[in-house]
Amino acid sequence: MTELKNDRFLRALLKEPVDVTPVWMMRQAGRYLPEYRASRAKAGDFMGLCTNPERACEVTLQPLERYPLDAAILFSDILTIPDAMGLGLYFETGEGPKFRKPVRTAADINALKVINPEQDLPYVTGAVRTIRRELNGRVPLIGFSGSPWTLATYMIEGGSSRDFRQAKQMLYNQPEQMHQLLDILADSVIAYLNAQILAGAQAVQIFDTWGGALSHQAYQEFSLRYMKKIVQGLLRENEGRRVPVILFTKGGGQWLELMADTGAEALGLDWTTDIGLARQRVGQRVALQGNMDPTILYASPSRIREEVGNILKSYGQGSGHVFNLGHGITPEVDPEHAGAFIRAVHDLSAEFHR
Ligand code: CP3
Repeated sequence: MTELKNDRFLRALLKEPVDVTPVWMMRQAGRYLPEYRASRAKAGDFMGLCTNPERACEVTLQPLERYPLDAAILFSDILTIPDAMGLGLYFETGEGPKFRKPVRTAADINALKVINPEQDLPYVTGAVRTIRRELNGRVPLIGFSGSPWTLATYMIEGGSSRDFRQAKQMLYNQPEQMHQLLDILADSVIAYLNAQILAGAQAVQIFDTWGGALSHQAYQEFSLRYMKKIVQGLLRENEGRRVPVILFTKGGGQWLELMADTGAEALGLDWTTDIGLARQRVGQRVALQGNMDPTILYASPSRIREEVGNILKSYGQGSGHVFNLGHGITPEVDPEHAGAFIRAVHDLSAEFHR
């Protein structure tokens, strides 16, 4: 087992002392990088990158070659699970993900089976093993999955959606049917994340991208409940180290106390929540990850640096903060600006760890 040379990301998630605040970016391997676009062109398309462990490894490492990031994230997608369930995932250029066979009826749901990751998604565990080997202990590797509710929205709508009309129709009209689907997804996510952990993922993040579209009651019944089930089903230690879980509900700032009750080590914040106020609310219970508005990366490097300073100051003294954007970096961002952001986090944060 290779020794980790930089473990400040894992230490911050466990609120252990660090020298500077660790930083990574959601979607750090992606279209804003010309080298990513070149790899994608060579692979043919996005799924051609995901399904080939050598190529997935190559693009995972690209942002780490450019920037002093404190973590790598597996290059894959949350929609690999529904694809493995037979829904037929495809990407139409400029239109986002689509499914050939969306889930609409009770019969569709009855036909679904919990996935077996090593058998159904060998390219994902293969990518995790390849990336760990190539990282050679440089930084920790993050594994990830979508939340059951977020996966269900894509499966029912057949792709992205603005209002989640069909998913919410099922939720309100056939709640038992929705629960049946979410249960199959939660069991699949547990198996999927545990397989990633056993293959070498050193922390895992659950992306609940659409939890914030639910009402206060519906969030607890249809999203949070299943994320709690997942957290309780995960391997929490591997290779002699704690494997921290990060829960990210976009638009979930009003539910942080409830999210902390799941037993996750850390909560992801989008930019609509003040990180200092969030820290007061959750106290010592969880670490916080976030939360700069990704569109600030379109502003000047000096304005980016100022905003990094504001967020560090709001979080305040001590460990328990992993710096990140409040959502994924967008394709039009200048890579120089991303570099200015990452440098600013390391430069300006040392004084908060003395
Ligand atoms: O963060 C990383 O660098 C790891 C890779 C990663 C991708 N998708 C690669 C990707 C991760 C963590 C995801 C998660 C994901 N995928 C989420 C949850 C996170 C979030 O953004 O809220 C969701 C909702 C998806 C589903 C998905 N995949 C959508 C809606 C799209 C299209 C949107 C877009 O930006 O075009 C994808 C495609 C996708 N996944 C791309 C990447 C780099 C772009 C594909 C391309 O190269 O054309």
